[in-house]
Amino acid sequence: MAIEKVGVVGCGLMGSGIAQVAAQAGCQVTVREVSPQLLEKGLQSIDKNLARLVEKGTLSATDRDQVRGRLRGTTNLDDFKACDFVIEAIVELLPAKRELWTALDKICPKQTIFASNTSSLSITEMATFTQRPDRFLGMHFFNPVPVMKLVEVICTIATDPKVFDEIVAFGARLGKTVVRTSDRTGFIVNRLLVPYLLDAVRALEEGVASVEDIDNSMRLGCGHPMGPLTLLDFVGLDTTYCISNIMFDEFKEKRFASPPLLKRMVLAGWNGRKAGRGFYDYADPAKPKALQLT
Ligand code: 3HC
Repeated sequence: MAIEKVGVVGCGLMGSGIAQVAAQAGCQVTVREVSPQLLEKGLQSIDKNLARLVEKGTLSATDRDQVRGRLRGTTNLDDFKACDFVIEAIVELLPAKRELWTALDKICPKQTIFASNTSSLSITEMATFTQRPDRFLGMHFFNPVPVMKLVEVICTIATDPKVFDEIVAFGARLGKTVVRTSDRTGFIVNRLLVPYLLDAVRALEEGVASVEDIDNSMRLGCGHPMGPLTLLDFVGLDTTYCISNIMFDEFKEKRFASPPLLKRMVLAGWNGRKAGRGFYDYADPAKPKALQLT
């Protein structure tokens, strides 16, 4: 089955990026948000990204218009009824996912393939909210989606291998390098990345070094594009805290346990760049100021 009509549920940071790359790959894309305001915000961020590509000469203005013409925003899930493939990138709360998949299972024809972009919840459990566990899998993108070259495609014990191969091929069509993985919390990237990020917070907490010195160490000593504390601010402290809790719950291993400082910062609402404050203060976004621990 050729995937031509794609539905993306959620037009936030991840959903808008997924909708953009699918439209750039030639798919007809319907993207849904819960309110017209959030939808508008998501579509504006896609327009901004496309405008940047035109400015740089990576995309012609004609191609930009065609990409935009293939993208349709909606607040109505019924608009997914003709989709070959639906990918969900909504809030990481199982009850919200349950409600969504139960509704979509009734709206979409039985051949439609479903995928979740979850970073930590069980794909196997989500598949049980539908009558099509054989056509349900994970497709995990990385932020910022148009830039990051990887996608993890996640197979459950119930996923039909042919469906898995189809979505692996679809990931390649989106211009991504695809890695295949099984449904274990964190998959590949977060299983390795999350303990590293948590260790950076522990090093700070123990007074090993300052925020800037920890970040510079990994950036300049290991060639990472961002230091771990900058990356935590970028991903969101709340998001990482939530992922680490789910991973700790799954594996009961200390390396996945959230350090007290991370928990305190989340409780204080210092969730990183989106909150204006995390391990850095973004009052002047051009010159983030590092947190000084007393
Ligand atoms: N959307 C689209 N394009 C973007 C973008 C965005 N939000 N942010 C930056 N870009 C593009 C720029 O246009 C630029 O393109 P060009 O090279 O063609 O001109 C390119 O990315 C580089 O951008 P900048 O020069 O502005 O800035 P940097 O060189 O600092 O790069 C970065 C920014 C790509 C974000 C880089 O710092 C980076 O790779 N950081 C690490 C990001 C990372 O690790 N992401 C994964 C997080 S983990 C995750 O998502 C999993 C989840 O489950 C937690």
